[in-house]
Amino acid sequence: MTTPLVVLISGTGSTLQALLAAAREPRAPFHVAAVIADRDAAGLEFARAEGIPTEVVRLRDHPDRETWDRALAAAVAAHDPELVVLAGFMKLLGAPVLETYGGRILNTHPALLPSFPGAHGVRDALAHGVKITGATVIDVDAGVDTGRILAQAAVAVAEDDTEETLHARIKQAEQPLLVEVVRRRCLG
Ligand code: GRF
Repeated sequence: MTTPLVVLISGTGSTLQALLAAAREPRAPFHVAAVIADRDAAGLEFARAEGIPTEVVRLRDHPDRETWDRALAAAVAAHDPELVVLAGFMKLLGAPVLETYGGRILNTHPALLPSFPGAHGVRDALAHGVKITGATVIDVDAGVDTGRILAQAAVAVAEDDTEETLHARIKQAEQPLLVEVVRRRCLG
């Protein structure tokens, strides 16, 4: 049996796609047990196409943040993952998930942390005028992109880059980096 992952997403799911592709490879040490989103994320389709269970846990369907935190933790726990992977999940995790899965939650961020944390890492790096940015895979803690750095990849910024072109190139470096960290973690 390979290591079960629950992947959390909010967006287009190209990072999820990379994980799904890696999981399909022979002798892959992990499988995606479920994909959970905080909104009707387009990326859920990639999981549905493979018959992987999906769930949407929307903040607005809950009376307050604490109730949503508990609902998210319950949705994750229903699939009993060994690892939780945030693949473009745009919300902070609350105590219920952190307490249950602390040390077993990975996140990927499209900048070289500790520079440019937060929701606009690519835009902020570009606005600052850096010549090198990249991607960082971290262990998740209660802060905003403050967890222990596990791996980084550098990406050069081109003169004519827009947020979109730069983010696309970062994703090309970021996805194999995340897959490799997940693979290593699963192999112990
Ligand atoms: C990734 O670059 C991730 O680091 C950032 O959002 C992007 C997710 O893209 N937080 P996608 O939804 O997987 O295509």
